[in-house]
Amino acid sequence: MGKEMRIVLRNADKIDPNSIDDYIKAGGYRALEKARGMERKALIEEVKKANLRGRGGAGFNAGMKWSFVPPAEVTYVVCNLDEGEPGTYKDRTIVQKDPHTLLEGMAICAHAINSKKGFIYCRGEYPYVVEHLNRAIDQARKKGVLGDFDIEVRMGGGAYVCGEETALIESIEGHRGEPRFKPPFPGVAGLWNRPTVVNNVETFANLPEIINRGYEWFASIGAPSYPGTKVLTLSGDVVNRVAIEVPTNTTIREVIYDFGGGIRDGKKFKAVQIGGTSGGFIPESLLDTPIDFDSMRDIGATLGTGAVFVMDETRDIVDIVTRIAKFFEHESCGKCNPCREGTFRNFKIMTKINRGMAAAQDIENMTLLCKVMQKACLCGLGQAAPGPIVTTLQHFRHEYERKLLA
Ligand SMILES: Cc1cc2nc3c(=O)[nH]c(=O)nc-3n(C[C@H](O)[C@H](O)[C@H](O)COP(=O)(O)O)c2cc1C
Repeated sequence: MGKEMRIVLRNADKIDPNSIDDYIKAGGYRALEKARGMERKALIEEVKKANLRGRGGAGFNAGMKWSFVPPAEVTYVVCNLDEGEPGTYKDRTIVQKDPHTLLEGMAICAHAINSKKGFIYCRGEYPYVVEHLNRAIDQARKKGVLGDFDIEVRMGGGAYVCGEETALIESIEGHRGEPRFKPPFPGVAGLWNRPTVVNNVETFANLPEIINRGYEWFASIGAPSYPGTKVLTLSGDVVNRVAIEVPTNTTIREVIYDFGGGIRDGKKFKAVQIGGTSGGFIPESLLDTPIDFDSMRDIGATLGTGAVFVMDETRDIVDIVTRIAKFFEHESCGKCNPCREGTFRNFKIMTKINRGMAAAQDIENMTLLCKVMQKACLCGLGQAAPGPIVTTLQHFRHEYERKLLA
């Protein structure tokens, strides 16, 4: 039986999220004080040894990322709250339930990289979250807990690609949100060409407890290669459509059946897509895989943002993948050729298959196109867009073949 464990959601529903006093009473801002008493190098080392890996999708060690920031007069801390991934609402949940844990995490990072200025890039569809965050920032300023570090909230314009860290940086700078070539990475040349750390909300929100309790405590929780917990958001044909926080060695089956309460209306399970629109589709036979980053990658899937989209036996896989292909065609920013043309072409072929007008050769052509996109696209959008096509062809090929012309 899977068990919840709350680190980032430790205060959820226990404190008033609109009250900094409540947060402080619950032990808030103590970790920041402790971090400020540490040498910067030691603080980065602590986070590195905790092996806190990014919760925004790429799974990069946060301490390691911070360690790449060169000494500079001006550096920036950027929090990615773009949360454009369909089915994902974890970052909104964290911020709505406990905004100060994010602010404290960002201020800890600011001390580590000697930054005086932070930005929170908030999804355009979350205007109420912007308001909520501004209230919390105001309280923190008035209490003086942030010291000489200040945070500004910037609102996204509703483009999925703006969650990609360099497109996000372009957007904050006031340009059209398109990804930059890497290197240089933001850690060296980010916002206005200054060293910039970009981390996800959940990554920052883990920091206060890591500093309070020490890296050994954190590193011992869940899967050793991706320790800690993960906030997951359940949606689709599952009984409980909720946000949960579980240790990273929890299996997909436990997530769906112990926390999700199983499949709605007594129907049977068909597939689950984890990590958002670009996540791989997982069949019944792989449900005992733990949700950690590496185990998911090993089965050709992703942990991504932690969205868990459950599909019952009545779902038409080819139809769902066609809709996903439409999403990517719409959201491709068009900067690079393989993504602009590839997402367009994939959508065309998927539509052809879905309408019963395709031949076996169309599947072969699409498979080849997916391989090119995975290697040649400029950013993660195009590189990951083929994921649902590739994994459904692997596990649910018969559903495609059933729709081909005789
Ligand atoms: C198309 C695309 C969309 C993304 N959207 C998000 C997002 O909404 N939130 C997020 O934290 N990371 C998102 N990412 C990942 C970011 O580029 C980056 O890896 C992340 O913010 C780094 O934070 P982390 O190391 O704490 O995970 C996206 C990446 C791509 C390619």
